[in-house]
Amino acid sequence: MKVIITENYEEMSKKASEILVSIVKNNPNAILGLATGSSPIGTYQNMIKDHKENGTSYKNVHTVNLDEYVGLTADHDQSYAYFMRTNLFYGLDIDLKNTNLPCGSAKDLQAECDRYNALLENYKQDVQVLGLGSNGHIGFNEPNTPFDSVTHLVDLTENTIKDNSRLFASIDEVPRQALSMGIKNIMNAKSILMVVSGKNKAEAVKGMVKGEITPALPASVLQLHPFVTVICDKEAGSLL
Ligand code: F6R
Repeated sequence: MKVIITENYEEMSKKASEILVSIVKNNPNAILGLATGSSPIGTYQNMIKDHKENGTSYKNVHTVNLDEYVGLTADHDQSYAYFMRTNLFYGLDIDLKNTNLPCGSAKDLQAECDRYNALLENYKQDVQVLGLGSNGHIGFNEPNTPFDSVTHLVDLTENTIKDNSRLFASIDEVPRQALSMGIKNIMNAKSILMVVSGKNKAEAVKGMVKGEITPALPASVLQLHPFVTVICDKEAGSLL
């Protein structure tokens, strides 16, 4: 696991975007695994800036996202589908038909998980972008999710509901469930790029990098992947 500690969020975002842009430049047909949340927003802004200034094209890029809240339609402003369109896709020349997320408003959630797993069989991520939950989750794989899990329905923990409530009008509006790629789907990526910032992530970063490999801290599984780059700001990396 390669760990890069940066001065701040801006430098973290710049370095992460450089890695993603170079993957797309080397392979215009790249498959990008993407994440939502606060951590990659700056990275995505830099990718948009590069696209506008340098013309890096995403016309033939395909994307697969990690997760989606259950019960929110793609036009709900807190859905991850909406987040991806407004924070990245609308700023690029990507064809929206080439972008994929689990559908959280599907009637049959198990059938939707099966559809997404089948899709992931054909879309092996050249790189999977990840953030890190303060409880060590990756995607919405909460502590004690089996390492061999594939896309599944998740009951979000109180900790995650509380962390994510900052983006909703009240904690009661935060969905209690999500569909998430499993740990196996994440580990199947050819490479992994994690961005982490802030003091509240420092314990999880320490456990992920130096701790025991255990489902109790899902991100610790990344120690078993041959090509992982973690870019964290100095607060998130303060316990390393
Ligand atoms: C988002 C996701 C989550 C977040 C994590 C960190 O698609 O799967 O694992 O990456 O909760 O969220 P932020 O970046 O908001 O701190």
